[in-house]
Amino acid sequence: MRHLIDIMELSTEEIDELISTAARIIKNPMKYREACKYKTLATLFFEPSTRTRLSFEAAMIELGGSVLGFSEANSSSAAKGESVADTVRVVGGYSDIIAMRHPKEGAPLVASMNSTVPIINAGDGGHNHPTQTLTDLLTISQIKGRLDNLTIGLCGDLKFGRTVHSLIAAMSRYEGIRFVLISPEELKVPSYVKAEHIKARGIPYTQSRTLEDVMPELDILYMTRVQRERFFSEEEYLRLRDTYILTPDKLKNAKQDLCIMHPLPRVNEISTAVDSDPRACYFEQARFGKFIRMALIMKLLEVEDEN
Ligand code: NCD
Repeated sequence: MRHLIDIMELSTEEIDELISTAARIIKNPMKYREACKYKTLATLFFEPSTRTRLSFEAAMIELGGSVLGFSEANSSSAAKGESVADTVRVVGGYSDIIAMRHPKEGAPLVASMNSTVPIINAGDGGHNHPTQTLTDLLTISQIKGRLDNLTIGLCGDLKFGRTVHSLIAAMSRYEGIRFVLISPEELKVPSYVKAEHIKARGIPYTQSRTLEDVMPELDILYMTRVQRERFFSEEEYLRLRDTYILTPDKLKNAKQDLCIMHPLPRVNEISTAVDSDPRACYFEQARFGKFIRMALIMKLLEVEDEN
């Protein structure tokens, strides 16, 4: 039985396969309407979510399966003090696969060690978010047509942003990748992420405090929200939250084929005036999330893709 806790558990060949399956689903969704008939997905969300939870649920429904779950820790027995290990032991009796989001780093890993069904990490604290990364990889491959030879700018909260950590890990395995890390001093990429992925593979990278200076180099600009819920002080959050606001003006020197991404939700970091720019890909990116999750659910449930 396979789980997905960290994106690095998937080889690049497996990621290619998931992206190809998702591409086939996008072309012909009707062919997959019964792929997971009689299977049930449980979504255990101990932390808020819109896209991740609903795209998981939409994915299972479109595969012909059923969904159940909770979207707030308060409405589950966690509020009574039940452990994650006990919760998954019980929910594994009601479902075939579980997607879990938790504010504590490592909770989905603990869950996987106690589960009789596959566990998918749908975000654990400021740590990892592998299915967002699969979404990001599908988006890049659909829009840029490749996953190699790209200069990727990551901008905003690179410290607490789990989507950034998983994306750096995944992209570090492709040829010709360069990272431009754009953040204030206080929100830089954690040194463990740099050491394990960027430095270990000798990936060229630069760090910048300003977005405008590096804009012309970028093939991809990955904007992120400042993760308010992970700050120790509200004051610090308020001081840092508006450090980068992407406006049409700042895009003047950007490449014509720049791909602007954001895992969403956006707060202030991309002006709505950017939405009509053809380079804005974030809503399409959210849409792709459903298709890659369909491919992932099929893989973990060992459902053959007959198409
Ligand atoms: C992200 C998350 O939850 O980590 N959103 C998502 O899953 N699409 C990013 C965020 O919350 O800022």
